[in-house]
Amino acid sequence: MTVRPSERALKAAAAVSEERLWARLMEMARYGARPDGGVCRQALTPEDRAARRVFVERARERGYAVSVDPAANLFVRRDGGGNRSAILTGSHMDSQPAGGRFDGIYGVLAGLEAIDAIGDAGIALPRPIEVVAWTNEEGGRFAPGAMGSMAWSGHTPLEAFHDVTDADGTRFVDALEETLAAEADLDRRPLGGRPHAYLEAHIEQGPVLERDGVDLAAVTGIQGWRWFRVEVTGRGAHAGTTPLAGRRDALQAAVRAIEALNRLMADPDDVVRFTVGRMVVEPNSPNTVPERVVFTIDFRHPDLDALTRLGDRIPEVVAGAVRPCEAEVVETTANPPNRFPETIVSLVEQCARALGHSVTRLPSGAFHDASFVASVCPTGMIFVPCRDGISHHPDEYAEPHHLAAGARTLTAALVTLAEGDD
Ligand code: GLV
Ligand code: MN
Ligand code: MN
Repeated sequence: MTVRPSERALKAAAAVSEERLWARLMEMARYGARPDGGVCRQALTPEDRAARRVFVERARERGYAVSVDPAANLFVRRDGGGNRSAILTGSHMDSQPAGGRFDGIYGVLAGLEAIDAIGDAGIALPRPIEVVAWTNEEGGRFAPGAMGSMAWSGHTPLEAFHDVTDADGTRFVDALEETLAAEADLDRRPLGGRPHAYLEAHIEQGPVLERDGVDLAAVTGIQGWRWFRVEVTGRGAHAGTTPLAGRRDALQAAVRAIEALNRLMADPDDVVRFTVGRMVVEPNSPNTVPERVVFTIDFRHPDLDALTRLGDRIPEVVAGAVRPCEAEVVETTANPPNRFPETIVSLVEQCARALGHSVTRLPSGAFHDASFVASVCPTGMIFVPCRDGISHHPDEYAEPHHLAAGARTLTAALVTLAEGDD
């Protein structure tokens, strides 16, 4: 695989429009806009559907073919090279409930900007380029995240997600069917594929690039993660009359379990990532002893041994801490750490440098659809800085010139990959 960007790659990159990319990002931010400046555009909601429709329209305006697969992954295709395998780029359009304007959508619109720039520069490529918007990357509404790319890559069959429900009891499959029905005018394509390579642009979601004053990162890989759902069962009782000694309070038990897990996960080097992000208490009444608590665990580590060793201890630690209540611990998803191929990492570096941008290498603490695509084809990612490293928050912000630098680097890398041999 070629690693140096060609003249044509740099010419295409020069046609990237910072203004067009920013205008499209701000246009998308209207769909699910929150009063605090953030975005709530959770997967397969009316807001998500409206944003997807705008993406389809912007693609059709430029004459690209648009198709959708059974997981509602959306594909925009710039033709080239007949039936040769495509170069794939993209990310996701859904957001966290209190999300920002850049997480995910930047990678989708940077991909669109790249194919527009290639066209504007008058460059014909020997391969198609496809821009994909993966379904439900965030997992805030339907857990786990990255359902679209998991189903596409064969990591998990789509049917395994059908009965997942959101907080209102809506089933994933019903929300999925609603979205597919709204997109019945699009061509349908089967799940899966064999792209030549995949490259995803994303905001860093961490503080390193801004702190070090570097324009971009070539991402070296993604740390591994394991998600669990813990259900603690106790006994509901009257808060005023039931002696403390005899209680089986599910919420007190859940607190003990979380404290015990914090001790298990204690790490002086601060590499372990351990989060309890959701808790549901029943019956959730001030004067009834809680009968049932469900909470989630998001545990991540870059080292497979640590991920396995610590994660495997979670069920016994929870069981020991919740007594006299009982607990069921179910692992809902897991993925080992990824390491991206050196050819792609160094291609991103070469493209960034050739375009005059400073670049460093970084691993990703966040997971991405690239984690799963990596099992199918050579995969890499490009990070751009974001203010104060804030993400999964309405205050998320990235500078237009950094976003454009990422899109230019992406464009140069896509063209170089498209020109490469089989
Ligand atoms: C992705 O949104 C993640 O939680 O890492
Ligand atoms: Mn994301
Ligand atoms: Mn995210």
